[in-house]
Amino acid sequence: LQTSAARRAQFSSPFTPFARDLPIAPELAPVSGKNGVDVYDVDIKEGLAEILPGFETPIYGYEGVYPGPTIRARKGRPAIVRQHNQLTFDSNVHLHGGYVPAAHDGHPMDVIAPGASFDYTYPNEQDAAFLWYHDHAHGRTARTLYYGLVGTYLLHDEREEELELPQGEYDVPLVLADHAFNKDGSFRYAENVDLGFRGDTMLVNGAVSPRMAVQRRIYRLRFLNASNARSYELRLGNSRQMLQIASDGGLLEAPVARSSFPLHPAERIEVLIDFRSFKPGSEIVLQNVAADAGTTKSVMRFDVVDGGGAEEARMPRGRMRTLEKLPAPNATHRWDLSLLTQGGVQWQIANRGFDPNRIDVSTRLGTSELWQWHNPSNRVHPMHLHGMLYRVVERSSGVVHPGERGWKDTVGVLPGEDVTVQPWFVPYEGRYVFHCHSLEHGDKAMMLQLEVT
Ligand code: C2O
Ligand code: CU
Repeated sequence: LQTSAARRAQFSSPFTPFARDLPIAPELAPVSGKNGVDVYDVDIKEGLAEILPGFETPIYGYEGVYPGPTIRARKGRPAIVRQHNQLTFDSNVHLHGGYVPAAHDGHPMDVIAPGASFDYTYPNEQDAAFLWYHDHAHGRTARTLYYGLVGTYLLHDEREEELELPQGEYDVPLVLADHAFNKDGSFRYAENVDLGFRGDTMLVNGAVSPRMAVQRRIYRLRFLNASNARSYELRLGNSRQMLQIASDGGLLEAPVARSSFPLHPAERIEVLIDFRSFKPGSEIVLQNVAADAGTTKSVMRFDVVDGGGAEEARMPRGRMRTLEKLPAPNATHRWDLSLLTQGGVQWQIANRGFDPNRIDVSTRLGTSELWQWHNPSNRVHPMHLHGMLYRVVERSSGVVHPGERGWKDTVGVLPGEDVTVQPWFVPYEGRYVFHCHSLEHGDKAMMLQLEVT
């Protein structure tokens, strides 16, 4: 990546928060919608983003922007996303949280060569959920995601409409990531960050701790932690309650009122906030109150303004969805998540590192198992399974929070903790991976393979 020659001044840290309005990623329009299939066209390329006012930050971006354009899909309507790799190195695209056939999943060894293209077919047969897409070429994701290869994919369905959830401009994806900058405004990424990179500057949708004007209505805020390795604990400054309606795999069975919630790398949480109860002119800061927050404490600010017509959304009460019952588990695995330091850093699962030529778990389509992750290390390991979803069954540190009892694809395993999940091996056969989503850990081999037959 080339630093822009047109640098105008020297960026000095710390940056003033709340100086810029929250940017909203552009929505991608399909190039065709024939035969009930939406076809999209995306260039994976270098770009320049104005992240710090007056500076151009070199990035890698879908369509050259960061975060990449939002794709809005609908259950029952397949999409084909035609990705053109215009970078000088291999890339590929993983639809994180999607039920996707193995050949279209973005397995780390399945890459698009520079100059080549691939049509990713997404059946969109699962319930509404907040998915995201990102690069997944093996050994490089910490770098490519940090430099911008991240976008949101919002899958909608009828159930959401029945519930009258906020739509359009009141349905807001928020991509959180911590970064660091060089004096010329370019991203700074340290190379020896085997334990996981942490930045000192908080970005939401590619702006430093932005502000967002909100009308006195109900908003659906969709939080994605797209950070390399930072975990957040998010709270509104006045400790007002947020109503959590969804997690990784879509709606919960019933909404859960929370005054704060953790968000580990790759996890999503959706909340409703009813701004009708706030006075115009009030400013509410969203804070990261995690113990290691440092200078990432001020995430963004909501500025309540008057206005807005009649409310079209409502706050759901009672049951929103009935989760499918899982078949009884027919095996139990217990895996240690640990660090091997002889001969360079390697993170491991059950004393193994990623080997694309080895299958670590074989299962039958339609069955389920119990997977227990034991974390003897002093780092959080957000464990992610491709192409399928699971339920969190048990946490040795206490009860499983109701906000974590829906379908999940990523779960934060805390230092010293045992977390048991129950994956359901549906809906496709094939070879998938599961790995730590602390990106430097995944790149350093903290990944195994699953084959469903
Ligand atoms: Cu979000 Cu294997 O990835
Ligand atoms: Cu890890």
